[in-house]
Amino acid sequence: MFAPAGLSIFAEMTALAQRYGALNLAQGFPEFGPDPELIAAFHRALDAESAQYAPMPGLLRLREAVAADQLRRNGTAYDPQHEITVVPGATVGIFSAIQALCGPGDEVILLEPAYDSYHPAVVMSGAVPVAVPLEIAAERVSVHWDALAAAVTPRTKMIVVNSPHNPTGMVWTHQDWAELAARIPEGAVVLSDEVYETMVFDGASLASPHHNPSLRHRSLRALSFGKTYHVTGWKLGVVLAPENLSMRLRTAYQFIAFSASTPAQHSVADFLASRPDYPNYLADFFQAKRDLLAASLKESGFRTLHSAGSYFLLVDYSAVSDLADREFAEQLTREAGLATVPLSPFYRVPPKEERMLRLCFAKEDATLREAGQRLRTWKQS
Ligand SMILES: Cc1ncc(COP(=O)(O)O)c(C=O)c1O
Repeated sequence: MFAPAGLSIFAEMTALAQRYGALNLAQGFPEFGPDPELIAAFHRALDAESAQYAPMPGLLRLREAVAADQLRRNGTAYDPQHEITVVPGATVGIFSAIQALCGPGDEVILLEPAYDSYHPAVVMSGAVPVAVPLEIAAERVSVHWDALAAAVTPRTKMIVVNSPHNPTGMVWTHQDWAELAARIPEGAVVLSDEVYETMVFDGASLASPHHNPSLRHRSLRALSFGKTYHVTGWKLGVVLAPENLSMRLRTAYQFIAFSASTPAQHSVADFLASRPDYPNYLADFFQAKRDLLAASLKESGFRTLHSAGSYFLLVDYSAVSDLADREFAEQLTREAGLATVPLSPFYRVPPKEERMLRLCFAKEDATLREAGQRLRTWKQS
């Protein structure tokens, strides 16, 4: 169920980066800090009252702020009392949803490459993970709809979707959701991991299953304040779902974590109230970083694939090396001083011919320029 060494590929590559003093584009979190106003709000929240447990579904003032934010930005309406649950990070929300809704005899479809927490969460629930590969192409990553339809059985209980996608940068469109709705049985639930929901590029806007009338009543969305506000260390997120699914989620969640950090909840509620426009700037901010990294990789021999969202992009290194991706990522860390993440650990059975690495561009501009420089120098050496 878990990686043989007990360490995720992210931890492995970060340890290697430290050993060789390499630039770390492997780590999937921002190199820059949060807005000072958010930190000030956290300091203000550190009083005796917020030293104790928050209510299990989260502070109502935060849930109300989230409802207003979602309506404003995405046009999706939620009842703060019954449809929003605050959790200590999206990972816990996803884990709790899977434990609450899936069990022995059920199958859960995972689209691979997939974020590494899904598979163990499904196995721990007693359900069986069923992998369906995404089609990775230079211009757009897409779902192989026939393969997905072939994977559906009467036991299909859930499909986990991640958009914007880690690691490929794929972003689902309304058409994608409609295609999915036409292929999964009415009894199946959609778990939509949208931790990068504010990072959709090129003028597109977020399409979620809650925009789709035939999926709205049977889908859950997991969001992460850690990703949105550059505070991954605070471990705070929400799960948005219709009342019946939220209630089932909470029955499991109350025994998994019970509640999330009270001062962190107050801080995000304050910040959402005082800076409602803040998330709007993130798409442009990260798009500029994507473009900077792609430009800095020109003439390096590494082919960048288009990233439509998230803070990741893939590079194809088949023109540079024949090594398998893990070996090659290690070689680059050692020799070029650049740590990346190989794509194969995102699969249970990786495609043999794939030669891809994931790069995180939530980094300072100087780091992104330096990354390209290091690859060019390495290639010439
Ligand atoms: C796709 C995806 N889902 C979930 C998470 C974790 O979110 P959180 O820190 O809120 O648990 C990550 C973090 O890298 C991620 O990439």
